[in-house]
Amino acid sequence: MSAILEVTNVSKRFAMGGILSRNYVNAVVDAGFTIEEDQPEVLTIVGESGSGKTTLARMILGLESISEGDIKVAGRSVSGRVNRAQRLSFMRHVQPVFQNPFEAFNPLKEVDRYLQASARVLLGATSRAQVEAAMDDALQKVGLSLAEVKGRFAHELSGGQLQRVAIARALIPNPAILVADEPVSMVDASLRMTIVNLLRDLRDQLGVTVIYITHDLATAYYISDRIIIMQEGYAVEMGPARVVLDAPEHPYAKLLKDSVLPVENAGKSRVQPADRKTAQAAAKLSGTGELVLRDDGRSVRLPRDGDGSVAV
Ligand SMILES: Nc1ncnc2c1ncn2[C@@H]1O[C@H](COP(=O)(O)OP(=O)(O)OP(=O)(O)O)[C@@H](O)[C@H]1O
Ligand SMILES: [Mg+2]
Repeated sequence: MSAILEVTNVSKRFAMGGILSRNYVNAVVDAGFTIEEDQPEVLTIVGESGSGKTTLARMILGLESISEGDIKVAGRSVSGRVNRAQRLSFMRHVQPVFQNPFEAFNPLKEVDRYLQASARVLLGATSRAQVEAAMDDALQKVGLSLAEVKGRFAHELSGGQLQRVAIARALIPNPAILVADEPVSMVDASLRMTIVNLLRDLRDQLGVTVIYITHDLATAYYISDRIIIMQEGYAVEMGPARVVLDAPEHPYAKLLKDSVLPVENAGKSRVQPADRKTAQAAAKLSGTGELVLRDDGRSVRLPRDGDGSVAV
């Protein structure tokens, strides 16, 4: 087994304020996990707003610098100086799917031109026939075809169709990993589950690993193999999705489960703990303990009580 993605002790600190009042936000603290090349999965990252999900995703995509730690894709570090050839090679392995497809596509440019560019630059397709075959192949994988999409602008497609085109664009270089940051939150409720199901099918049929970022435990439970629950930059509990979500151990993970949303709101609503006071109490506990591996395969960041001993 070899790792396609290794995230090791990764932290991100943003400097805030001016020269006189400088302080820092610890957006991600000591994140770590590995994705094996021959073990496609849906790995969900869940947590409330500001918990560091997007920052972690952007570091994995090489869009944000890493303050500490290391991220390796196919054995190569993505941090530090990378030349164009290395960057392209990295993009062939890991591709993004963004939250809002209407922002991802320029309204004045036909959507198929994005797929064309990807086919030429990342796949190395040269002839028109090769480019079109690659585009059609990728579109078929998401339930569309080149004939349906060619020459059309973003506003001529529904949010669901456009997100499919965005996923097709991401699939063109046959990546091992898609990083999908809240991919269904801007899609109409009626189409949301079709996109979630598509992500699952990509894993099952194409062997693509999906890093699925969401606020929503219902869809997370439905499609995830593993889950990372984040709070204020820390992974507070992570492991096999069913193990963690059936009986969460960390106070914050328990709270999230209590606030689970109905499936019809999947991917849309924000995670909102039912009881604000308990949520704040749980927030104080996170980040104070160590991540401990359990027999059932999960890791829990055990809260410490006041005298420093571990409270279970
Ligand atoms: N470029 C930036 N400069 C300064 N602070 C930032 C920057 N990007 C993110 N942050 C801060 O880092 C923390 C984590 O933000 P991030 O966007 O990763 O959270 P998130 O979990 O994706 O939230 P959401 O669910 O709302 O998308 C927040 O406190 C945020 O304000
Ligand atoms: Mg985000």
